[in-house]
Amino acid sequence: MSQKKLNIAIVGLGFGAEFIPIYQNHPNTNMYAICQRTKEKLDQIGDQYKVGKRFTSFEDLIKDPDLDAVHINSPIHLHAPQSVAALKAGKHVACTVPAATTVEDCRAIVNAANAAKKNYMMMETAIYTREFLYVRELRDTGQLGRIQFMRGSHQQEMAGWPGYWEGLPPMHYATHAVSPCLALVRGEAEHVACFGSGRIEDKLIAKYGSPFAVESALFKVRNQQLAFEVTRSLFETARQYIESVDVYGSKTAFEWTLIENEQCIVHHGETPEKVTIPDYAHLLPKEIQRFTTKGVYDEEHAHLSFTQGGGHGGSHPHLVNEFVSSIIERRPSFPDVYQSVNWTCAGICAHESAMQGGQIVPLPDFRR
Ligand SMILES: NC(=O)c1ccc[n+]([C@@H]2O[C@H](COP(=O)([O-])OP(=O)(O)OC[C@H]3O[C@@H](n4cnc5c(N)ncnc54)[C@H](O)[C@@H]3O)[C@@H](O)[C@H]2O)c1
Repeated sequence: MSQKKLNIAIVGLGFGAEFIPIYQNHPNTNMYAICQRTKEKLDQIGDQYKVGKRFTSFEDLIKDPDLDAVHINSPIHLHAPQSVAALKAGKHVACTVPAATTVEDCRAIVNAANAAKKNYMMMETAIYTREFLYVRELRDTGQLGRIQFMRGSHQQEMAGWPGYWEGLPPMHYATHAVSPCLALVRGEAEHVACFGSGRIEDKLIAKYGSPFAVESALFKVRNQQLAFEVTRSLFETARQYIESVDVYGSKTAFEWTLIENEQCIVHHGETPEKVTIPDYAHLLPKEIQRFTTKGVYDEEHAHLSFTQGGGHGGSHPHLVNEFVSSIIERRPSFPDVYQSVNWTCAGICAHESAMQGGQIVPLPDFRR
């Protein structure tokens, strides 16, 4: 890879702080600036990681002419407006999931990325976990055979998380379950039928008008004879955290473990086998390989989302490397802007379907 170094800023320093040392060590980036509203926390993190440029205003940050790219990790409702503003300011954008919460905002992101001719990548951890990379390898070596069906699931109890989570429609945060299914077949969702099930307490319902404890959807993949299923719950549904994908091929099936940290299962026809998933750090520049197995905090200070997701399967350095490499190599990232917004819209349209009693809802085709 070239010697070019991109100036990167991270916006939002909860989960976002996880990425600071990765950018500090990637051979093609300068960890240029950090941004969040509260000055005290900004300075605390800035001092801890020795990042010199600090902004309490996102609007001031994106005016900086030396800044090449922003990585947005702010609360959900800010993802789309901040992404659009940064693209309009001529910056490449990486943004944590979901890309947006409305179809209109998804379209605005596509329009802004195309007008600016800058990369936009949704930083979907679920498609760079070691489990996903293992299934991808089964696909690429022909061991899966023809992919016949996929099933994603993401169940989590979000009581007590920051206020914007409370009562969030489960499918508005569906990308961790949707994306691995679509990434594996390099596809986009075409339409969806989703049912809401169960009921959460009234004070949670009030915020977003979403009553369901669980939302369960079937999606059709555009231009492929394939469907996949996704289940999501966020409140009052008793289960250990799970963020999983199962894949059924004509030769081999892969099923995620039901209990965290146990082995996943590969079925060769009728014969199941428990498998130890290898790490894929060798796919990365050597300077950031260590971040697949180690969070950037010590155990006492680890971010809950990192601990619960099993460190997100070692995905963080892969995400950084893909975002940075795509800019340097002047190619679309994976996912690119169209895939990012389709994988997000899948959940938005699924919730719409659930609110309409399970009616089929078509997804917009943003490529047209
Ligand atoms: N596996 C994953 O992909 C994964 C895991 C965890 C979180 N996330 C995403 O990351 C985002 C952040 O999660 P979190 O748990 O750190 O949230 P959080 O609410 O704890 O932190 C949000 C951060 O954004 C900052 N912020 C808020 N408004 C801002 C503004 N206007 N300008 C600049 N900064 C602002 C806050 O100061 C804070 O540092 C969430 O939206 C979530 O979707 C993704």
